[in-house]
Amino acid sequence: MISNDINLAVQHLNKNGIIGFPTETVYGLAGNAFNTAAIHKIFDVKKRPTFNPLIVHIKGIEDLDKVATDIPSIAYELANVFWPGPLTFILKKQPHIPDLVTANQDTVAVRVPNHPIALELLNKLDYPLVAPSANPFTSISPTTANHVEDYFTTQIDMVLEGGICKAGIESTIVGFNNNKVVLYRLGALPVEAIEKITGSLIVSNKKEKKTITPGMFLKHYAPKTDFILTRNVKEELDWYSGKKIGLLLFNEFEPDFNPTYQRVLSEDGDLKQAASKLYEVLHELDKMNLEVIIAERFPEYGLGNSINDRLERASKKDDKITNYLTTENEF
Ligand code: TXA
Ligand code: MG
Repeated sequence: MISNDINLAVQHLNKNGIIGFPTETVYGLAGNAFNTAAIHKIFDVKKRPTFNPLIVHIKGIEDLDKVATDIPSIAYELANVFWPGPLTFILKKQPHIPDLVTANQDTVAVRVPNHPIALELLNKLDYPLVAPSANPFTSISPTTANHVEDYFTTQIDMVLEGGICKAGIESTIVGFNNNKVVLYRLGALPVEAIEKITGSLIVSNKKEKKTITPGMFLKHYAPKTDFILTRNVKEELDWYSGKKIGLLLFNEFEPDFNPTYQRVLSEDGDLKQAASKLYEVLHELDKMNLEVIIAERFPEYGLGNSINDRLERASKKDDKITNYLTTENEF
């Protein structure tokens, strides 16, 4: 059931229920971060392996030290600029955070969502919310309340309506090493924006041997339709000629191709607009009974890198559990 009633959402959460709730990035599937019954429900409904930890959503920077310890000054500097917003920190966890949230690791992921309804909801609760994206494991993330309802209908208590998510892709995730910022996941906040504050290059933790981001599966955000990512759309159109094709393009339509089956994410070439429409359009193309979706590779800067990351994952065919940081991800 989709509803605008925040108090009803509070009631469900207080009874250890789980709800879909809006954030500026994507819709989350939320429950009380301190209640293991609710957290188990989230893993079950999503069919998500419990070794994949969850993000804790707090109402403001003042709650950060209730969730995490040993917080480096650079984290506060970034939080002051970007929170509420699409930036998640990996920090040492407070002992009372359930192991189920963090997949038995000693770190916790935490962010303040920048959505008026999410913030209003968090302010009515006396606990933070764990919330993975509200989609079955490895499927396309939801950017509308209807997407969540389509995925989970009767399995969850309600979906809190919050309109279309403005950013449209998940938060950027960073950790810290000796007060240096370490990138864990490309996302809605461009790496360049973080570098402007830190003044130094963000460090990729690619070389670390330990699997510290267990959730970064290679196949992720995947439509059901076969999905090709390419620098040369024309070449792929030739290769797949005779098939029922859909096109996902950056800023220009393909002139010799049926307009019904092509989507341009931003005619103005605006990467922010493109990111905000990405999943919406993927959901739409995936419902068109196509034989293949051909997506154009985006420019390799700013949010273009985050979009390419998601498109690469959407194009992976197998379920191989591979750590994100040991794959070809470059930025
Ligand atoms: O924008 C977002 O981040 C959305 C909204 C709902 O906030 N949430 C989201 O959650 O994308 P999810 O669960 O789909 O992705 C969170 C990622 C997972 O890949 C998980 O492995 C990683 O964060 N993660 C969570 N806790 C971690 C930890 N302690 N260390 C390393 N990675 C962690
Ligand atoms: Mg997700």
